[in-house]
Amino acid sequence: MLNNVFGIDLGTSTICIYNHDKKSFFHEKNMIAIDKRAGVIAYGDSAYEMYEKAPDNIKVTYPLSNGVIADIHNMQTLLKLFITDVSGGSFKNATYYIAIPTDVTEVEKRAFYDLIEESNLKARKIFVVDKAVADAIGLGIDVKNSQGVMIVDVGFNTTEISIISLGGIVISKMIKSGGMRFDDAIRNAVKKEYRLYIGAKSAEKIKMDLEMLKEQHSPATVYGRDVASGLPMERSVDTKLIDGALQEYFDVIIDNVKVILERTPPELSADIYKNGLYLTGGGSLVSDLGLQLARGTGLKVNLAEEAGKSVIQGIAEIIRNKRFRSVAYTIEGMGK
Ligand SMILES: Nc1ncnc2c1ncn2[C@@H]1O[C@H](COP(=O)(O)OP(=O)(O)OP(=O)(O)O)[C@@H](O)[C@H]1O
Ligand SMILES: [Mg+2]
Repeated sequence: MLNNVFGIDLGTSTICIYNHDKKSFFHEKNMIAIDKRAGVIAYGDSAYEMYEKAPDNIKVTYPLSNGVIADIHNMQTLLKLFITDVSGGSFKNATYYIAIPTDVTEVEKRAFYDLIEESNLKARKIFVVDKAVADAIGLGIDVKNSQGVMIVDVGFNTTEISIISLGGIVISKMIKSGGMRFDDAIRNAVKKEYRLYIGAKSAEKIKMDLEMLKEQHSPATVYGRDVASGLPMERSVDTKLIDGALQEYFDVIIDNVKVILERTPPELSADIYKNGLYLTGGGSLVSDLGLQLARGTGLKVNLAEEAGKSVIQGIAEIIRNKRFRSVAYTIEGMGK
């Protein structure tokens, strides 16, 4: 019988945890706030609240960068805090299922496993699942019987483009594009055009409101600091400027999807052509990306109902449904 089982999707911006005993899902910002003297003063969403607002003695950071664990020590601290929160402290001898990216080095993959092993969680067993396979299951695809499934997961720092067949990865490529790059593009465009510095949170808000603003034919209102005077300022920003700034980043994603399609074995291409590609990850919600991917590739684009949650929903399904259990594997004993 399963007991004390947790599923983890360790994203660069969001950590998602599934607690199988309680059948509950948990989503928080994967962030930590550390005071030079007092140590950890906030984590998760409350650390994000301090982001870009904290004084110099408080460091607010993401321990993951480009989809891999960059700051092992802080990630271990965070994971222990999050698992303690979701389990109410009873996590001894638990089994973990964690999603890992495919197109990273063996050492980087191993780091996800080691993270759990070394976080003082006293894990009984650790399984890993390829992120794209978890995505597909979370999107309701019967991966074990499907040949040729294309998943495009646009996250925060990364976009993973993968072809899956019969429950395994055929090709996977990770590119450094995603929601954070879109925010940076917006910040740079506003700075260049309006000579206004805006924060990452303001840029993200414009990005999230973009679809609605375009429908209403209204500009975005932003608050920031004037480059020349250094004073706080409010400006109206034309949505066309935002669309233009994002275009370059969309093109990189579309071009890379085409490259993967060109490398896909023809028998699998036929299925992808029939079913279309699957677009997921929080970053994929940005206005027009789905439309442009459809135009650029000539494929139908299936949009995730809950983009950003498909990996954890897939892991939950793997834990719940024995049929999918074989897509999870252990990397114990793998050489470092
Ligand atoms: N409605 C929305 N419109 C546009 N972007 C959105 C929306 N909702 C979330 N996002 C963006 O999704 C991104 C986060 O996506 P997600 O949670 O999939 O990333 P992650 O899994 O933490 O990162 P990664 O997979 O790169 O490690 C953020 O950049 C956020 O701004
Ligand atoms: Mg992700």
